[in-house]
Amino acid sequence: MAITLTVNGQRRSVDAPPDTPLLWVLRDDLKLKGTKYSCGMSVCGACTVHLDGAPIRSCVTPIAAAANRSITTIEAGGPRLQALQEAWLAEEVVQCGYCQPGMLMQAAALLATNPDPTDAEIDRWMAGNLCRCGTYARIRRAIRRATATKAAPAAPAKAPPRKPATTKEASHE
Ligand code: FES
Ligand code: FES
Repeated sequence: MAITLTVNGQRRSVDAPPDTPLLWVLRDDLKLKGTKYSCGMSVCGACTVHLDGAPIRSCVTPIAAAANRSITTIEAGGPRLQALQEAWLAEEVVQCGYCQPGMLMQAAALLATNPDPTDAEIDRWMAGNLCRCGTYARIRRAIRRATATKAAPAAPAKAPPRKPATTKEASHE
């Protein structure tokens, strides 16, 4: 079944059963290997991408839920992700690195709606993303560093953080 979606601003068409996980399509069909597979059951956050701007777990999101919608992956680039990546480097966040694409996508979604989060807001927002290397404190510092740069939009008012959409919510948006 041919399904059309927009990935990092480009229209793409893939031929896959509608229940194929979006993660498989990104990695195997579109060769976007930055998004990682780990638990495969919406527990760790390694596979986080954005669906219409909201963070989702691509390992449990069927490709049919992404049809005619916009997907953003770690390969997208742009000022916010770049500023976060620079902050990640400055704070020497990365250890083995496996969880970090998902961490960065989760953090980017936070700063898109909450440009100056508190430590508590960061911890709450990032709580669903797991790091076996224990980089949580460094990630918090890096996000705070990035808020001082162009990572955060120039929003006049502070918006409350959005919770990551569940697969069920994402598929019904
Ligand atoms: S691989 Fe998707 S949440 Fe763990
Ligand atoms: S840096 Fe190794 S799992 Fe997070």
